[in-house]
Amino acid sequence: MSVKVTFPKTDAKITGAVIVGVFDDGVLSPQAEKQDKALNGLLSSALEENKSFKGKNGQALQIFTPADSNTSRVILLGLGKAEELDALKAETAGGKLFAAIGKSGLSEVSLLADRSKKLKAEALAAHIANGFKLRSYDFDRYKSKKDKDDEPAKLSTLKIIATHPTNTKIAFDDLDHVSAGTFWARDLVNTAPNDLYPESYAKQISKELKPLGVEIEIFDDKKLEKMGAGGITAVGKGSERKPRMVIMRWNGGSKAKNAKSIGFVGKGVTFDTGGISLKPGAGMDEMKMDMGGSAAVVGLMKTLALRKAKANVVAIVGLAENMPSSNAYRPGDILTSYAGKTIEVLNTDAEGRLVLADCLTYIQREYKPEFIIDLATLTGAMMVALGHEYCGTFVNDSALWKQMEKASETSGEKLWRMPLDEVWKKEVESAVADIQNLGKSRYAGASTAAAFLEHFIEDETPWAHMDIAGTAWRKSDQPTVPKHGSGFGVRVLNDLVAKYYEG
Ligand code: BES
Ligand code: MN
Ligand code: ZN
Repeated sequence: MSVKVTFPKTDAKITGAVIVGVFDDGVLSPQAEKQDKALNGLLSSALEENKSFKGKNGQALQIFTPADSNTSRVILLGLGKAEELDALKAETAGGKLFAAIGKSGLSEVSLLADRSKKLKAEALAAHIANGFKLRSYDFDRYKSKKDKDDEPAKLSTLKIIATHPTNTKIAFDDLDHVSAGTFWARDLVNTAPNDLYPESYAKQISKELKPLGVEIEIFDDKKLEKMGAGGITAVGKGSERKPRMVIMRWNGGSKAKNAKSIGFVGKGVTFDTGGISLKPGAGMDEMKMDMGGSAAVVGLMKTLALRKAKANVVAIVGLAENMPSSNAYRPGDILTSYAGKTIEVLNTDAEGRLVLADCLTYIQREYKPEFIIDLATLTGAMMVALGHEYCGTFVNDSALWKQMEKASETSGEKLWRMPLDEVWKKEVESAVADIQNLGKSRYAGASTAAAFLEHFIEDETPWAHMDIAGTAWRKSDQPTVPKHGSGFGVRVLNDLVAKYYEG
């Protein structure tokens, strides 16, 4: 559940709780000035009294209004320095606002749209509302009682009061399509692994995306075996719940026969026990998030379809459950990948790269995309290196990296470029097979994993690998991302696709 954003006609009387902006050092926005006048200076005197409220971005101050006024309370929202207020800062302010007032007993609030130096009133209100909604996401599917007795009900509606409600709605809807993809990705990551497994996941993808016009193909374990996709097949072998590969195509761009596509690939290990190289018990529950890369990819497809993106996109997710059993693959096994390269398994917990290798080969051979980006919760080493804030991104093409960097700046999803090197490609060469699924030392684990994938990139296809091990799952709330499944990747990739096709 999340808040609903509405855009009532402007002639409606403003009642209830209203939100107005305040800039740094307590400078009232035009709408705040208006309310202040109507309330005989109540807001200015409240600012005088509350020295700790300085209008910093995301600060909130609630002021109750006298019984004879139209409104019940005014909520001052800090917007920071007027000249610095851009779309991302507006979203942060909106997210922090929800954190401050989402559980204060209000069921609805009205935001009075206002322009600022950099943003028109429609855009500023849309971005504040977007941040507000992104933060209000709540995963309560498994709660038999939705509301706690000792907590007030959650705020459910944000009304935007704007001079041009229709234009404001258009601006918001554009952002809301991205939230819809992000929320679906979060839901998938948060879903318990007894409910989300390859078969059920593939069905859900089909059910959600087909009606939106996305073409779907599902390969089951028998088909994968017949194809010779020895990587994903081996990883899925130990589980009763057999692997699937799902191919999605969105053809919103050129209809020319030779029109090229761009490609996305996601790791969808619905649960990673480590397999025979079993992980320690503590914290293993979190390995339900090991399908976070695939969630971002399917979430992106949903967003692209919702906004009818003028783009030709092909996406593949490799879905498997990594379990130990008498039928599981083992350390020492030598597999033949879909590409034909043989792989010596040295650790069954380095399974993601085996799944991805087959998906990467299939997408290249079948579609020859202009570029490919894969997303995967691939290594603990990535988390050690960059933590939860930045997604380490390995790219073999500087032009592609430049575009990703730009998309990162506009979306606020932070990427950091990591190195690829021949040395690491050598490090995963095997004594007995073509390559091995482990580096020779325990260092640079994220880089040797990337180098393993690089062995499967053909014809110098521009390619990026995003290791989202640290960013797909958060243990604490962030301004626009509540804890647990973050949906990381949908926003940055949507911006990338938009810029790639629309400039
Ligand atoms: N899914 C894990 C990586 C991971 C760890 C993601 C923590 C998110 C949080 C991956 O399959 C894995 O187990 N990687 C191993 C690789 C090692 C065996 C080379 C790791 O990072 O320990
Ligand atoms: Mn693993
Ligand atoms: Zn894994």
